[in-house]
Amino acid sequence: MASDQSNPPPEPTKQQQAGKAPASTTTAAATKTPVTQPPPTTTQPAAASPAPASPAPASPAPASPASGGINLPGHQLQQPSGIVPAGPDDVHEEDEFELTDGYETASAGSTSVTSSVYAHTIENGRRYQHFKNGRYPIPNDDTELMREDMKHVMMMELCDGQLFYAPIGEHPQKILDIGTGTGIWAIEVGDRFPNARVRGIDISPVQPVWVPPNVDFLVDDCEGNEWLDKDCDLVHFRFTAAILKNVSKVLRYTYESLKPGGWVELQEFSADVLCDDSTMPNDDPVKYTYDLCQEAFTKFGMNITISTELESYLRDAGFVNIQCIVKKVPIGPWARDKTLRVIGMYQKLAVQDILPALSGRPMAALGMTPLEAEVTVAHARKALEDMTVHRYFHYYFWFAQKPK
Ligand SMILES: C[S@@+](CC[C@H](N)C(=O)[O-])C[C@H]1O[C@@H](n2cnc3c(N)ncnc32)[C@H](O)[C@@H]1O
Repeated sequence: MASDQSNPPPEPTKQQQAGKAPASTTTAAATKTPVTQPPPTTTQPAAASPAPASPAPASPAPASPASGGINLPGHQLQQPSGIVPAGPDDVHEEDEFELTDGYETASAGSTSVTSSVYAHTIENGRRYQHFKNGRYPIPNDDTELMREDMKHVMMMELCDGQLFYAPIGEHPQKILDIGTGTGIWAIEVGDRFPNARVRGIDISPVQPVWVPPNVDFLVDDCEGNEWLDKDCDLVHFRFTAAILKNVSKVLRYTYESLKPGGWVELQEFSADVLCDDSTMPNDDPVKYTYDLCQEAFTKFGMNITISTELESYLRDAGFVNIQCIVKKVPIGPWARDKTLRVIGMYQKLAVQDILPALSGRPMAALGMTPLEAEVTVAHARKALEDMTVHRYFHYYFWFAQKPK
């Protein structure tokens, strides 16, 4: 049964204690910015959508499968090559998946918060954000926040330490992170660009208090227009577009918030479980679970495979110079390439840890009983251990520019 509960701000985490000053988190009402005119429409050369997963390679591809690429006029689309699975003769170090105690940033900065946005709902032992009627159907408790921070580490491995791909230069002044979550990306960007003002925006007040002085957080629904800014160099989204109800509207607001020549970047995975080499059976429990979730999130008005279609959304919002990098991320440590094995391990943990959350609100939305949902995710959890099944996700890194 659901119950409402007002919680105090979360205890400072290890990350917050690392010599940073307290952040000023605020609600949107405190920094209201009027909405200006809608963006001008621009003509953009037609470009192909990202191609589907390539078929299984007949002979082994290079072991380090970053991305290949093709260039189209006004649009760069990089396609990944196949992931080479590890063979019986591949020798792995014993401690290659040893995880560190936690994640710390190098920041040394500062800043406070209001209280009504701290209301939460507890359901089946999990805490959900309550602001705006709890529209996000995934918990915001410590378990989920730790999972998000782990995904950040995975993304850093996947992108070779690069926080974004958009070519914003070395002297950005204003950066926004929409759906900032724990704020880990915003904090790292704040450290990297101490002269820029970095603002993280999230519907859920789960950001740390101790952050660099140039970083702050705004608790707001990005589908409303109170967070709008002006003259930003970069507006960044990561794992957020897929859980918005009206991506077109949010991209229009993004366009308005950017300076001419400024960039938007969306780093999103597609929740489609893929396999190139026929090792995944048609009734694979992991795929089945994710397929169910696609259906469930549709009921919440969200599209968790929208990453494949973002080009048309960007173009319609007025963006030009649309580019995309696509990467394959193994689910589990089954790749031959060592970095991909580590990434695969993180991805497997991220899937494993989201399963209990998926058996909650999403499966309930499909009319499944708690027992049916439990059994479904139990099968998926067991199947995840089978490394002879070469599952992967596609990750899309879209970046595009507001015309100069
Ligand atoms: C999957 S998490 C990603 C967190 C972060 N971007 C990262 O990569 O570490 C999605 C975040 O979007 C936030 N969110 C969902 N709907 C939102 C909305 N309408 N406005 C603002 N934030 C939203 C959630 O509270 C959650 O923190």
